Amino acid sequence: MEMTFFMIKPDGVQRGLVGRIIRRVEDKGLKIVAMKMRRLDQATAEEHYAEHREKPFFKDLVDFIISGPSVSMVVEGKDVISEIRRINGATNPTEALPGTIRGDFGLDTGRNMVHGSDSPASAEREIALHFDAVERIDYSRIDEAWLYE
Ligand code: RTP
Ligand code: MG
Repeated sequence: MEMTFFMIKPDGVQRGLVGRIIRRVEDKGLKIVAMKMRRLDQATAEEHYAEHREKPFFKDLVDFIISGPSVSMVVEGKDVISEIRRINGATNPTEALPGTIRGDFGLDTGRNMVHGSDSPASAEREIALHFDAVERIDYSRIDEAWLYE
């Protein structure tokens, strides 16, 4: 089963959206296999967004992501990398469809509340960056027999 790295950014925490965002992940049938709240340090944030190092918005992005607590998860399920990105919606919340997190709750690209890995290689890299292997729990959810054929 595929895994992805999913994060509720500091704006999602500050706006009290943690519960409603996690609700959407669980409602879809996706399984949370690791979760923690912490404030990212500068080095981890820069590593997390390494692909954007040369972009003009890199400094603001890193400053924002370390500005307060965020909630990080490893989520598991069928096609979970693309499913989480569909649940998140388009990067710019004004272009994100209603029914997505960004479409329903946001207005600004720099305050788009959630992050999801964009490929299997990114997922592997980001999970290893943010979690120790022992923090991932291997368990079955009781509804799995009815979620998957
Ligand atoms: P994410 O990585 O957070 O899941 O979002 P994404 O794949 O949809 O977007 P990505 O291109 O990876 O950009 C990462 C984050 O950088 C901020 N951003 N700002 N000012 C800008 O033009 C701009 N473009 C991107 C957003 O917060 C985006 O989520
Ligand atoms: Mg991205």
